[in-house]
Amino acid sequence: MAIIVNEEKGIFALETQNSLYQMQIGKFGHLFHMYYGEKMVPQDLSYLLFDGQANFTPYPYESNNRSDSLDFLPQEYPTSGTGDLRSVALDIENEDGTHVVDLRFKTFELMSGKYRLESLPSFFAKADEKVETLKIILFDKISNIEVELYYGVFEDRDVITRASRITNLGTASITIRKAQSLTLDFHTGQFDLIHFHGKWTMERQFERLPIRHSTHSFGSNHGVSSNRQNPGFIIADKNTTETSGACYGFNLVYSGNFTATAEQSSLELSRITLGLGDSTFSWRLVTGEAFGTPEAILSYSSQGFERISQNFHDVIRQNLSRSKFTNTSRPVLINNWEATYFDFTGEKLLDIAQSATEIGVDLLVMDDGWFANRFDDNRSLGDWYVNEEKLGMPLKDFVHKINDLGLKFGLWIEPEMVSEESELYRAHPEWALNFPHRKPLMGRNQLVLDMSKPEVIEYLFDCLTSIFDQANIEYVKWDMNRPITDWFSKDLVNGRQGELQHRYILGLYDLLERLTSRYPNVCFERCASGGARFDLGMLYYQPQIWTSDNTDAINRLKIQYGMSFFYPISSMGAHVAVSPSHSNGRITTLKTRALTAAVGTFGYELDLTKMTNDEKAEALDYTKAYKAYQKLIFSGDYYRLENPFDTECSSWQIVSKDKSESLLTFVATNVTGYPPAFYLKAKGLDKSALYLVEGQEYYGSVLMNIGIKLPKLTGVYPSVQYYIKKSKRAGKKQL
Ligand code: DGJ
Repeated sequence: MAIIVNEEKGIFALETQNSLYQMQIGKFGHLFHMYYGEKMVPQDLSYLLFDGQANFTPYPYESNNRSDSLDFLPQEYPTSGTGDLRSVALDIENEDGTHVVDLRFKTFELMSGKYRLESLPSFFAKADEKVETLKIILFDKISNIEVELYYGVFEDRDVITRASRITNLGTASITIRKAQSLTLDFHTGQFDLIHFHGKWTMERQFERLPIRHSTHSFGSNHGVSSNRQNPGFIIADKNTTETSGACYGFNLVYSGNFTATAEQSSLELSRITLGLGDSTFSWRLVTGEAFGTPEAILSYSSQGFERISQNFHDVIRQNLSRSKFTNTSRPVLINNWEATYFDFTGEKLLDIAQSATEIGVDLLVMDDGWFANRFDDNRSLGDWYVNEEKLGMPLKDFVHKINDLGLKFGLWIEPEMVSEESELYRAHPEWALNFPHRKPLMGRNQLVLDMSKPEVIEYLFDCLTSIFDQANIEYVKWDMNRPITDWFSKDLVNGRQGELQHRYILGLYDLLERLTSRYPNVCFERCASGGARFDLGMLYYQPQIWTSDNTDAINRLKIQYGMSFFYPISSMGAHVAVSPSHSNGRITTLKTRALTAAVGTFGYELDLTKMTNDEKAEALDYTKAYKAYQKLIFSGDYYRLENPFDTECSSWQIVSKDKSESLLTFVATNVTGYPPAFYLKAKGLDKSALYLVEGQEYYGSVLMNIGIKLPKLTGVYPSVQYYIKKSKRAGKKQL
């Protein structure tokens, strides 16, 4: 049993392979969070509850003990108006304007399998998997507000999911001002916060800072999870490293605005919260209505960040991403964006496709610029019909020609947008988000469609299906290229404007659900000017996401390093682009570009017709190698060996689950004269097995304790890759 309940003592213990999560009902019915961390035998932990002096803090009326203040007690789902003056999970404005919801335990339910959420993406259990659900119901007897707390316990994956659902059972309407998916209180501990900040072309930059006596708050107001922050973050003990020490990873299955807080309050209590962005959020619930929060996921590791990452990679690959492509091979593609930008014709693309066949590519993606008058980024978004003049033929014939070359075909779209200069905008200006009586804020000279409107979703569904049905389209790159502003929807009346940001995402999910279920054989790629919507909500519908518009291999080392903390390698789009790089003018070798792109969903993004025959021959070798290793790359355990933020190199390794093979890559970001020998220590191998590396046998323990001796690396950002395979003589003694 992964969930143990002691009804008499009111204790709920959730067990995973290596962790324990424990809650307990307090003497007045509050639900306290007692523990989350290293697995222990569950026992009554009420001795941990604060019992010191608390002269000047608010405490419940029914208590005659001032130390019963909720401000000093660890709570499972803290709420406003109850004397807990820290960040709360739930803030409700009642009809009379008061902000109070006082939740006490009502009942609980145990279910086998995993709960599902209505209209929102969430993790699922596979048949035969050990997954259990606990539902705890809390209730405010004055306002008749009920809150269901859901816990999904994925025992073998060492993760727990959480979500909540708030129902108004009272007679008056209420307004939810804040509803978080997760709060986690700690009785004790000094933590560091690791979060991933960034910007366009430099997403997911690793940053570690101490959580001090203040509230660290970060999130997104961009309408997307954003390139500035990501909902995936970690808190760790001070001494935690990549491979040792305690840490906790958190993430949210959501693609819109989010807020996360990490707080150390008085008495050294720490609190984490994560959920919907709350700066302008509100949701009105009339009698009988319910609101469900997105799902949060958490994992504990006593063995550093590496284990947190591996837990997330596994659960995302196995229990989140529903696409049939998630765990199967994916096409090596050529994308024409950096090759041509808008300046292409059908003929030019066919030339590129012809060259692509010479380097082993499987699929051509026709990027932005194929529709209506889209000759630059100032016009035509929303007019989703093919510019046959530019293409030189109907889409169907063009795709035939691509298929005749032996390639599959993929198409770029950006459905959530509309250009002012478009037929769609002229017909439906009211479909664009815009504050009344004001000119809209522009972003890339485009506006955002109001995805909360069912008629917009219907329109997009109809025109996208009519394009997808026109030709043999086997891949779709779904882009989104501006932060969302001007949050006003004409349909949302009676104080409901605060619902718009979340309703936008619900509309988007609805469209994605319909399209991905109608086209299960299409591989969908997500993009938002690169990695501005790289999140678990998107990975539920789509197996891969374009990681960054930065295709410089050396900048990519840091971006992909940061990305790897939460997201599996199989979800990261990575392409070989031209040198000097369009992103920053840097010169790199084809080898370093290829090895860096090979840790993701590999492709090319340059004008292949300009490659020399020698370059094509070299590229063909990289494509072949990638295809040979793709299964290992997608399904193995990922290890970060060298941190590009701290060292002048970056290195990573992927080891198959059965430890029989591994791929290890090293890129130097600096070279010096007269360098000492460098031994690169491998990880994750079988200590006592013999492995072959470039014809030489080593024990796993030798490779992990001493390492592979790197050759002298010279030149421009040199790189090296080793394929490590268990020797047939496995287990035989060498001495
Ligand atoms: C931004 C994307 O990240 C690029 O890859 C490309 O698709 C452009 N948009 C097209 O406008």
